[in-house]
Amino acid sequence: MKFGVYVHIPYCIQRCHYCDFTTFEQNSIMPPEDYLELLLQEITQRSTQISPKELTSIYFGGGTPSLFPIDYIHKIIEKLELSGLFKTKNTEITIEINPTTINTQKVKQYLDIGINRFSVGAQTFSDPLLKTCGREHNSQQTLDTLDILADLNTNFSLDILYALPLQGMEQLEIDIQTALQFKPKHISAYCLTIPSGHPMNKGRPKEGLQVEMLERITQRLNQNGLFQYEISNFARPHMESKHNLLYWEDQSYWGIGLSAHSSLSTWEKGLRFWNPKDFKTYKKQVEAPTVATYYPHQYLPDSQFEELKTWEALTDFCHISLRLNKGLSKDALRYRFGHEAESLVAERLQKVIKSNQVNESPSHWFLTNEGRKISNKVFFELTFLKEDFLH
Ligand SMILES: C[S@@+](CC[C@H](N)C(=O)[O-])C[C@H]1O[C@@H](n2cnc3c(N)ncnc32)[C@H](O)[C@@H]1O
Ligand code: SF4
Repeated sequence: MKFGVYVHIPYCIQRCHYCDFTTFEQNSIMPPEDYLELLLQEITQRSTQISPKELTSIYFGGGTPSLFPIDYIHKIIEKLELSGLFKTKNTEITIEINPTTINTQKVKQYLDIGINRFSVGAQTFSDPLLKTCGREHNSQQTLDTLDILADLNTNFSLDILYALPLQGMEQLEIDIQTALQFKPKHISAYCLTIPSGHPMNKGRPKEGLQVEMLERITQRLNQNGLFQYEISNFARPHMESKHNLLYWEDQSYWGIGLSAHSSLSTWEKGLRFWNPKDFKTYKKQVEAPTVATYYPHQYLPDSQFEELKTWEALTDFCHISLRLNKGLSKDALRYRFGHEAESLVAERLQKVIKSNQVNESPSHWFLTNEGRKISNKVFFELTFLKEDFLH
């Protein structure tokens, strides 16, 4: 059983035009020292209800966790240990880094407190596109940040955003080649996702070109030893993100901090719960007197948790598993949902297997290259309803 902790740090230098995460300009919200107190209190109050105890991963995400003082990050790691959530020599501890927020000394300090993976929000190396995104840093500052991480021989990943307004294949090639110069162990390549009507939709590559862009990224990264293991994620062998794999392998994770989401797959068919998005409610909940409860969601109002029904859990399990290149494991499916569910999934997959969108091996079902391009259509076939379980 794998298990990870996500810690949300909501401070940013600027609000990027495309960002939908719960983040704020750093000086416009609760001071970091007060937020730290809430995080520590949340760990103390709820860790007794959380199991298992051995940590596969800790992930400091945001926001911009590299704006948060290092000794605060250290205090959180220590608090988790003191609360019985212990790390081993294999625990992956990642921090998201924005360009301009680190220097050599700071990275050494991160390494000293046990951080062993860095995720850099590069996005693009085009200055005009960085401006379009509303980001404060320029590409030279990203290059400087990557130099520091590469010189210290750290394990780092880069986030690249593609299908940006007016971005063509040539700029994408430059972004990929520039990223590869630093020999990263991991790259996440995200297709810009924004609501229709968003000003950044103007001049974006059309859907066909977006598909070609992902194909080009996959091809170039493959040629350079980084292999796609999930629709948007590429890694050198054995360097996949342990934390992100928890999400796609339907393992348990506990999210701490403003808006953080948790999932306990060990709880019946699955339990999801999440924290409020506003500081006032979050503070009120964290500061409420501790009550002896057995399950973490018993602290929370109904609007902040969801107990999954069999058909919902099966739908989620199929969708997230198929995002992985290795696909949906028949053993894992049978173990979690039984023989009947396995037969139901096999039956539903017949159509997409015939149309070459899904392939089957003795142990797994997985998306073909064709299927990956239209994954939503495949997922639609594997969307289960209550009626599917009434007989
Ligand atoms: C939670 S963000 C935090 C990373 C960091 N603060 C930064 O922006 O450099 C993680 C990644 O999500 C991706 N992301 C954010 N908004 C997105 C969007 N609207 N569509 C696709 N990817 C997005 C970006 O690549 C970003 O680096
Ligand atoms: S820096 Fe990252 S988290 Fe902050 S607003 Fe920009 S994309 Fe969102």
